[in-house]
Amino acid sequence: MTGRGRGDDGGPGEPEILVLPDPASCAATAAERLVRAIEAAVEDHGRADVATTGGSTPSAIYAALLAQPLRTRVPWGRVHVWFGDERFVPRADPNANAWLLDAAFFPGGRPAGPLPGANVHPFPVDATLAAGGRPAECARRYASQLRVALPRDAAGRPVFDAILVGIGPDGHLLSVFPGSAAFDRVAWAVAVPAPVHVGPHLPRVTLNPVVLDATPALLAVAFGEAKAPVVGEVFGSARDVRRLPARLARRPGATWILDAAAASRLPAAITGGRSAR
Ligand code: 6PG
Repeated sequence: MTGRGRGDDGGPGEPEILVLPDPASCAATAAERLVRAIEAAVEDHGRADVATTGGSTPSAIYAALLAQPLRTRVPWGRVHVWFGDERFVPRADPNANAWLLDAAFFPGGRPAGPLPGANVHPFPVDATLAAGGRPAECARRYASQLRVALPRDAAGRPVFDAILVGIGPDGHLLSVFPGSAAFDRVAWAVAVPAPVHVGPHLPRVTLNPVVLDATPALLAVAFGEAKAPVVGEVFGSARDVRRLPARLARRPGATWILDAAAASRLPAAITGGRSAR
């Protein structure tokens, strides 16, 4: 099933929803959509600034990007990779979202493909730790880097050419958890206390959720049975994004990439009565 459901107002106010058979096809589809956004950005303004995610979502997407045919399509020297969020641990820590990217693109510290190391812009956790700083300082430093590197939209928000997000079982995305104080902040990046309800229970730094509305290519990826309840809730009647941050990605222009299992509880109003499986 692909295409748009009916919006809240009965109009076409929904994101594109792609339902694929399995996680591998989700990853391949997400990678291809990412490449489309990268190609469009490079065509338009000569570079592509992409924010990636953590958790179990990105690794298979990275592998698809490094494999043919996508490997050849990507203008790697023009691509800059940022992070939607990070755990406040050293980059060499396997809990770090940057570690996930390094494991794919720089295994053993050696480039596995043509992405220049200088084009990867992790949250400056290591530099902050070396200076005895805390997550708030790390977030401040990252926001400063973003202000230098990225254009802003009319609302003054940083514009990434694409943002890839995973969806937490509790409805979080980035490291914006239900009830997050990030919703009340104007800073582009903020510190988040270690979550107790989901792991890893580590202090985080995250982009402000306002960035999700500024990007022309918001890709939300979820696969597996465990995500079916939260995906069903996001596409149900819930509208309170503070309680369900993933609801922010239910917007026109966004693309949800789901496997059949994660899509199995999509409401009929969204699937048009067609089985999502
Ligand atoms: C993180 C991620 C987080 C992740 C979701 C989904 O730091 O953990 O940025 O937002 O994308 O928790 O993670 P899974 O795909 O592992 O469920």
